[in-house]
Amino acid sequence: MKKAAVLLTSLLMMGAVQAKGAFDVSEDAIAYRQAAFGLIKENFADMGAMLKNKKPMDAAIFAERAQHLAMLSAIPFNGFIAGSDQGKTDALAKIWQDRSEFDAKAEQFVAATAELAQISASGDPKAMAKAFGAVGKNCKGCHQQYKAD
Ligand code: HEC
Repeated sequence: MKKAAVLLTSLLMMGAVQAKGAFDVSEDAIAYRQAAFGLIKENFADMGAMLKNKKPMDAAIFAERAQHLAMLSAIPFNGFIAGSDQGKTDALAKIWQDRSEFDAKAEQFVAATAELAQISASGDPKAMAKAFGAVGKNCKGCHQQYKAD
C-alpha cells in the first residue's frame, strides 16, 4: 500500500512538471533558444561561405550541414514560453501577441530547411543555392518582424 502511494505521488508530480512544458524559468528558456539559434547560425554560415566561394565547396560537408540545420530548425521554438519576452532577450513582445503568425513562420522555416537538406543530398549546386536562399529569407523575414535590432 505504502509503496503504491509513493509511486502514485511521484507519477502525479511528474505530470505536474510535464504540464508546464520543458521550462518554467524564462531565463532558461531564453538561454536555450539563443543557444539553438547559435548552432543554426554556425551551420548556415558555413554553407553560405561554401556557396560564396569563401571556402572550398565540399558537397558532403555541405549536405551534412544542411541535415544538421534541418534537425536544429524546430529546437529554438520550444524556448518561446509565455513570459519570456522579459529578460536578456531580443525577442519582441509581438511574438506572444501574434503567436499563431510567429508559429506559422517557424513552421515555414522548418519546412524550408527540410527542403534544403533534401536538395543538398543531390549535390546540384544551382538547386542548393536556391534552397539556401529560401532558408535565408525565412531567417530575415522572421527577424525583421520579431527580433530587436
Ligand atoms: C520564426 C522566427 C525565426 C526564424 C525563422 C529564425 N530566427 Fe533567428 N531569432 C529569432 C528570434 C525571435 C530571436 C531572438 C531570441 C532571443 O534573443 O531570445 C533570434 C535570434 C537569433 C540569433 C541570436 C542568438 C543569440 O545568441 O542571442 C541568431 C544568431 C539567429 N537568430 C540566427 C538565425 C538564422 C541564421 C536563421 C535562419 C537560418 C534564423 N535565425 C531563423 C527568430 C527567428
